[in-house]
Amino acid sequence: MTKKNHIKKAAKIIQDGGLVAFPTETVYGLGANALNPDAVIKIFEAKQRPSFDPLIVHICDIKDIDCLCLNVDERVYKLAKRFWPGPLTIILPKKDIVPDIVTSGLSTVAIRMPAHDVALQLIDKAGCPIAAPSANKFGKLSPTKAEHVMKQLSDVDLIIDGGKTTVGIESTVISLSPAGFKILRPGVITEEEIEFIIPRDNSIKINDGSLVSPGLLKSHYSPIKPLSIFKDGDYYPESKKIGYLAFQKNNLTLHYSTVEILSEKGDLKEAAVNLFGALHRLEDSDVDMIVADPVPEVGVGVAIMDRLRKASYTKNEKY
Ligand code: TXA
Ligand code: MG
Repeated sequence: MTKKNHIKKAAKIIQDGGLVAFPTETVYGLGANALNPDAVIKIFEAKQRPSFDPLIVHICDIKDIDCLCLNVDERVYKLAKRFWPGPLTIILPKKDIVPDIVTSGLSTVAIRMPAHDVALQLIDKAGCPIAAPSANKFGKLSPTKAEHVMKQLSDVDLIIDGGKTTVGIESTVISLSPAGFKILRPGVITEEEIEFIIPRDNSIKINDGSLVSPGLLKSHYSPIKPLSIFKDGDYYPESKKIGYLAFQKNNLTLHYSTVEILSEKGDLKEAAVNLFGALHRLEDSDVDMIVADPVPEVGVGVAIMDRLRKASYTKNEKY
């Protein structure tokens, strides 16, 4: 089937209340008509996602934002002009047209315009906004290839294979208050880049105990195998078969039989692109556990460390 026919078929499935997994520039999404609660329920079922975790609504035209959201101020248009289509999700007060199941009963909705031809054409052809979380089982590794979706999800009507995603980690999620913006989930678009466009809200502390965004859960994005972030002086028992997730090429890679190097030259953007693919290969290998290098927490490194910390979090912290 040609790409055009594939998208036509997928759009029909969305219109009929079905589920389509599709590529975006960040990770693959599991999409349904955002305005059809019966279709959206299927997303939660397929992902085994708790109903308290709200979904992102994907649009293909900036005008759609006014149909879905209230109080859209100048800052939103400034951000959209700079970053959309692209990996930025903005939380805004919702209009009644957005079903409560999409937002888990919150009065706000997450909106993003993805920078991927297939995604944009699908939304356009379906003729409705598409609610889509990452197309993985809840709490597990995000998919950056169609094969990763197939590995985890069975109740999907169609998977559109668009190859490997180009950004590799999920969008930056921000909320807006009268004072400015606040990052709820770090991504490839950094706080500094956003601050260049609109002011930051310095008054609220992130992780102040209230669950402002379920993306702030301590455990998430976890491989099946236990993962530890490597610290100098750490000792791992020889009885364990260890998979090493290296940030860049280094001598330690010689000591492990199973190694994934995120970026030979230590480039953070390249590391982000390769992160989930490397973790998928390590969880599919015969290792007992994964040890990951920490990466410098600057730029995209903030988002990579966020994902690694959540992937490594266990109640008793050690393997
Ligand atoms: O790059 C991405 O954002 C991908 C692609 C498919 O677009 N999607 C994605 O969706 O990562 P998901 O469901 O895995 O993550 C959405 C995040 C969650 O952390 C959720 O809690 C948060 O956005 N979120 C959604 N609606 C929210 C709201 N109204 N208030 C606060 N957080 C919200
Ligand atoms: Mg997700």
